Amino acid sequence: MSVSVIIPAAGKGERFGDKKQFLHFNNKSVLTYAITPFVFCNEVNEIIIAASKYDTKQVNDCLKLANFKKKVSIVEGGLQRQDSVRNAIKLSNKKNQIICIHDCVRPFIFKSLIQKAIKKCISSGAVIVAVPSTDTLKETKDLRIKKTIDRDKIWKAQTPQVFKRSIIEHALFDLKYENFLYTDESSLVEQAGYDVSIVEGSPLNIKITTKDDWLLAKAIFKEINND
Ligand code: C5P
Repeated sequence: MSVSVIIPAAGKGERFGDKKQFLHFNNKSVLTYAITPFVFCNEVNEIIIAASKYDTKQVNDCLKLANFKKKVSIVEGGLQRQDSVRNAIKLSNKKNQIICIHDCVRPFIFKSLIQKAIKKCISSGAVIVAVPSTDTLKETKDLRIKKTIDRDKIWKAQTPQVFKRSIIEHALFDLKYENFLYTDESSLVEQAGYDVSIVEGSPLNIKITTKDDWLLAKAIFKEINND
């Protein structure tokens, strides 16, 4: 089964104050690092980036520089993350029965983990990469603890999140869930009643959201690239 990869990259970077996907390390953008391992997966047939129309030139510049040997297209993103993902799915080749969604701001994803998630999706239909929580989590209200959550049951969701096309299309295009705002595609698929499996990911597969994440990311880049 072949795979369409979707990279939502139409965020405004409001929390960071800048568009994190275009930050550079060693002359390569975070976006380029996030895409590269997918290019080397034989299962992947196409990659679609959902970007704001104002960023098309910057995305194109990244792609030109990277000179990937695989089809990478750009589609206009939407107001919410789900609008961006919807637009990309509409453009994808319907022959690809698996949809793999990966945040553009997770540059430390490995080919072996992507392939593990795709393999699991073929048998289970819906899978996310996640890591067990090492922190104890507290449910709070007004900075007071209401409840301590049993850490042993808690996993932190990452991407890639991989779904059979029929499942993600059902969840994303069903009008019942149109106004359900989510922060990852799995939430929507869960809401639509499907079981979602987990493949254990890597703590290094961080999402660059804040300035502190960028500090951490630079340290990881240095370590990985032997800089
Ligand atoms: O806002 P957050 O950090 O959760 O965004 C996660 C991902 O969703 C980012 O890769 C961002 O570019 C993408 N996004 C999008 N379209 C939007 C909002 C966010 O593609 N309208």
